[in-house]
Amino acid sequence: MPSVSISSANATTTRSDVLIVAAAKSEKAVSVLSPAEEVASAFGRSLQPTLSTLGFEGKEGQVAKLPASGVVKSALVIFVGVGEDQQPTPETLRRAAATGVQATANANSVSIAFPTEDDDAVQAITEGVVLGSYRFDRYKSSPDDQTVNSVVILSDRSRSKAGKAAVERGETVATAVCMARDWVNTGAGDLTPPAYADAVAEAAADDKVKVTVWDDARLAKENCGGVLGVGRGSDSESRIVQVAYKPRKPVAHLALVGKGITFESGGLSIKPGSSMMTMKCDMAGSAAVVAATLAIARLGLPIRVTCVAAMAENMVSGSSTRPGDVLTIRGGTTVEVHNTDAEGRLVLADALVVAAEHEPDYLVDVATLTGACVVGLGERTAGVLSNDDTLRSAIPRIADEVGEPMWPLPLAEEMRAKVRSSDVADLRQHNPKPVGGTLYAAAFLREFVGDSRWAHIDIAGPGFNNESAYGYVPKGGTGVAVRTLVATAQAIADGELD
Ligand code: BES
Ligand code: MN
Repeated sequence: MPSVSISSANATTTRSDVLIVAAAKSEKAVSVLSPAEEVASAFGRSLQPTLSTLGFEGKEGQVAKLPASGVVKSALVIFVGVGEDQQPTPETLRRAAATGVQATANANSVSIAFPTEDDDAVQAITEGVVLGSYRFDRYKSSPDDQTVNSVVILSDRSRSKAGKAAVERGETVATAVCMARDWVNTGAGDLTPPAYADAVAEAAADDKVKVTVWDDARLAKENCGGVLGVGRGSDSESRIVQVAYKPRKPVAHLALVGKGITFESGGLSIKPGSSMMTMKCDMAGSAAVVAATLAIARLGLPIRVTCVAAMAENMVSGSSTRPGDVLTIRGGTTVEVHNTDAEGRLVLADALVVAAEHEPDYLVDVATLTGACVVGLGERTAGVLSNDDTLRSAIPRIADEVGEPMWPLPLAEEMRAKVRSSDVADLRQHNPKPVGGTLYAAAFLREFVGDSRWAHIDIAGPGFNNESAYGYVPKGGTGVAVRTLVATAQAIADGELD
């Protein structure tokens, strides 16, 4: 991971292996954006025809590399297209920074001269650098990619404390996203619930948080029949891990709950092999809430956070839960299991009850919960369902600001009766009709949140990228929702969600 700093040095006179500048598409020519206009002047009149020959028009995502040959002090200049907007948004800068660092090869030092209208721009560039440099090489005998060592953002914001703080914020948040990605990418054989719980405790060791781990014996004492029911077919124990952050004078209390199915075979309602391939990703929601909690603690936000991660492995064996079995969730609600592949809601039910017992002001859960959400919203947009109008509109708006597309879906009224329609238990786990699966699952979860102001974020689509990398989003685990959760905590701290 490259280290990022900020400096008021000049783009033309800075000595680095690579200088990255932003270029916008305009009608006739490409315009190199501030503070790198002088770089364009230094290249002189040959610049436009050269860029044109290279096919570079300044379109978003385009890249052109020109050897500086002495016109500026850095060895190579990389032009990154940002589209037609001469004043790129933070998200455009985040993507452009990632595209720029990804276009380097064998570069040790990199400087970035992008427009930084405000400190949000500085933070976004920092995030783009770190997120775009992410590699998962745990299983590679010889990691083939060389990554950048140090990145300097050239901006006069370096003169203020706030500018430096923005770099630190960006590093903190992006590092947390990368941690979530690492957990998602780790093979499920290596990240069993006990190993995952240990990894969380280790990650949090230096932070001002308290980690509490419930093993199988404790889960039984605590009446967590959902987590135990899902995990009982596995050779590994299950876990509920709580991470508590209590700053001195919190202005509000946020509870975060995450689905942590470390491997999802479907259980006896087994998945076909092709759908099972990527199911190490079924703990992405828990990775996001834990990583966000640590980031919030590291940022020192004045918000108390209670994070509850429900970890279990859903496997097939003689002791697996069967369709028709009845599980008793913490708090006493009974659930008739219809499809062991709808396991996420069972582990979340226990975790939501645990979280609600802490009487938070806000309760947000994140889960790779339903394939139906991917059918409805595609692979890059998460669904947001809520019993609270403020959260339902605020979370997608905040998510959009940080570059994580999310969209509201309804807690449709008819689902309440369907969820309560079991012949033998209080609740029916699964809707026999394959319609509105995301809505049904959320209506099921609602049964466990009491009167908390609650939102559910279904990241089944964007939690794991099966396609090629794009922008700062790699293949595999994406770490989605971490940035939205941190920004939501900030919005709560700022009193925006009262
Ligand atoms: N983890 C899956 C949902 C999922 C599907 C996530 C595709 C990412 C990509 C979840 O455990 C699941 O199997 N959900 C079922 C629920 C159904 C049986 C009600 C589904 O969506 O098919
Ligand atoms: Mn499933």
